[in-house]
Amino acid sequence: MERTFVYLKPNAVRRGLVGEIIKRFEQRGIKIVALKLLWMSKQQAEKLYEMHKGKSFYNDLIDFVTGGPIVAMIVEAPRVIEMVRHIIGDTDPLKAGTGTIRGEFALTITKNLIHASDSKENFEREYKIFFSNNEIIDYYLDVQDDI
Ligand code: TYD
Repeated sequence: MERTFVYLKPNAVRRGLVGEIIKRFEQRGIKIVALKLLWMSKQQAEKLYEMHKGKSFYNDLIDFVTGGPIVAMIVEAPRVIEMVRHIIGDTDPLKAGTGTIRGEFALTITKNLIHASDSKENFEREYKIFFSNNEIIDYYLDVQDDI
């Protein structure tokens, strides 16, 4: 079993897309093991996006992700890092396939609705910015036996 860190950006919350997006994970058999609504601080945003510091889009990105509440979660499934990136679609909504979250609901790169870790190393780094280990709930989800 693998885990990944996902968060729904402030425009996903404002647009009322939380249920629609979580539904897509659930129907795929992906297990939610941690979930919360929070307002990302500037410090958390700067840590999360430290590799983009200095890039042209960095300041707009930090302002955008700290501009309203987000929904953060940790999800679990076999090969879930790759699976979630697949369900989300390309960073650029123009290149995101039809049927993906970004391909169906997003228009611009900055406001691309959702984030997911792109590697095991980044999952380990990213989830710790938002969750403590005692917020992760280990439980049995029987739907995963049939998926
Ligand atoms: P990145 O880590 O490249 O993409 P992803 O979110 O798919 O892992 O970029 C992080 C975020 O930075 C991205 O979701 C939106 C923003 N961004 C821009 O605003 N403009 C850009 O040109 C890029 C590459 C990213």
